Amino acid sequence: MSETLSRDGIGRLFFGRSWERPATARVAPRRARVVCVASGKGGVGKSILSTNLAVLRARQGERVLLVDFDVGFANDHLLLGLAPRHDLVSVLEGRVSALDALAQGPEGVQLLAGGVGRTDLGSATRRELERLFRALAPLESSFDRIIVDHGAGLSYATLAQVAVAPALLIVTSHEVTALSDAYALFKRALAANPKLRAGLVINRSPSRAHVDSAWERYSGACRKFLGAVPELVGWVPADDAVGASVDERRPLVIAHPESAAARALEPIAAWRALDQAAGAGAFYDQACAALR
Ligand SMILES: Nc1ncnc2c1ncn2[C@@H]1O[C@H](COP(=O)(O)OP(=O)(O)OP(=O)(O)O)[C@@H](O)[C@H]1O
Ligand SMILES: [Mg+2]
Repeated sequence: MSETLSRDGIGRLFFGRSWERPATARVAPRRARVVCVASGKGGVGKSILSTNLAVLRARQGERVLLVDFDVGFANDHLLLGLAPRHDLVSVLEGRVSALDALAQGPEGVQLLAGGVGRTDLGSATRRELERLFRALAPLESSFDRIIVDHGAGLSYATLAQVAVAPALLIVTSHEVTALSDAYALFKRALAANPKLRAGLVINRSPSRAHVDSAWERYSGACRKFLGAVPELVGWVPADDAVGASVDERRPLVIAHPESAAARALEPIAAWRALDQAAGAGAFYDQACAALR
């Protein structure tokens, strides 16, 4: 909500006359900074990254909202140990407001769950997505950070958000199939949003050597064919502690903070683009416009 400065009260008090500021001047509302987390190939670690990123950013003092946009196949509530009563479909259907649909997770992280099994957004119409984005818009002024955990690939709904997001984290493994899909994702994301700050996370890697060779291949292809390369934001080793944290339903950085994978997530949460990249305007309003 924007606040118009009072033109009479303060102006009269201090200057004995009406406030001179033009009627159109408005105080810009504070809005959450949005980061999308996506991948080409499925199962590469988006939800592990998103949930742990949420906890790490909350530890830095941010009011964090995690949106599980993998609607129908959602996992984030499990990874946070929650059993939410509402989800994105409840919001889409107008049964509950977005704020009332939130579930409180560990360390102050709020989750808007994606729901399991009922329906997905793959076949959602433009009108339905527009209704959903409009319903989510009020969340922007209640948080400092919104992390959107997408399903694998680039659905229409995901692309509409990536097209207007200031920052995108692309998750991949070191394997050639995942890298190829991550390349395709970056290509389409860049075409939709040339101003995007994109970063790559190479997850579940057996060694640093695997990362170096994967990065060389990936960045070489991006440079040659797209003329642009995402930043290599970080890499996370394959680590049994990750599976253990999933079984315990506690984020890795809480359950096993000393593990190699948890340590590797810290620099990713400190990616500068997360702080620098501010949206040009209201994220969900722009996502609505991107649907057209
Ligand atoms: N660094 C890692 N080391 C070991 N296992 C990992 C690591 N990262 C992820 N995993 C394992 O891979 C599984 C899949 O991870 P995750 O659910 O985050 O993938 P995803 O990309 O979100 O999948 P989907 O495309 O289905 O949404 C996890 O349950 C975990 O067991
Ligand atoms: Mg996932």
